[in-house]
Amino acid sequence: MKILVINGPNLNNLGAREPGYYGVNTLTDIQDSLADKANDLDADVEFFQSNHEGAIVDFIQASSQDAHGIVINAGALTHYGISLRDALIDSRLPVIEVHISNVHAREEFRHKSVFADIAVGQIVGLGHRGYQYALEFLVAHLGEKASR
Ligand code: DQA
Repeated sequence: MKILVINGPNLNNLGAREPGYYGVNTLTDIQDSLADKANDLDADVEFFQSNHEGAIVDFIQASSQDAHGIVINAGALTHYGISLRDALIDSRLPVIEVHISNVHAREEFRHKSVFADIAVGQIVGLGHRGYQYALEFLVAHLGEKASR
């Protein structure tokens, strides 16, 4: 089972970026612990981060055929990234949306996600651990679907 773990704009700056919202873990720290978790769950993960919406669309188009699910923190693209939404729909893969910070406790423009209605679910405000919970859920979810 292969899961794509995608991070959008500015998430390459985790650790340095607004630690009050995003904590002190770097993206490398998060990806290393997700790789360990994937190993425990007997799943494969492929990581991708870009500051460019089109690059993320290209990655989804190129990588979704041999993947089974997507964990995505699209950063600010969450709030307006329609071409990314379309690429997620076209992938036909189950999507879990992650936000490190509690977007609902922040500015109004962060309350809306253009993926909310196409995602299986969202994990919001649980810090870096949200990625782990998303991976754990997705592997269980895909396992249940496969045994149905
Ligand atoms: C974020 C929330 C977004 O509003 C913001 O633009 C980000 C990070 C989060 O993880 O909390 O870049 O997705």
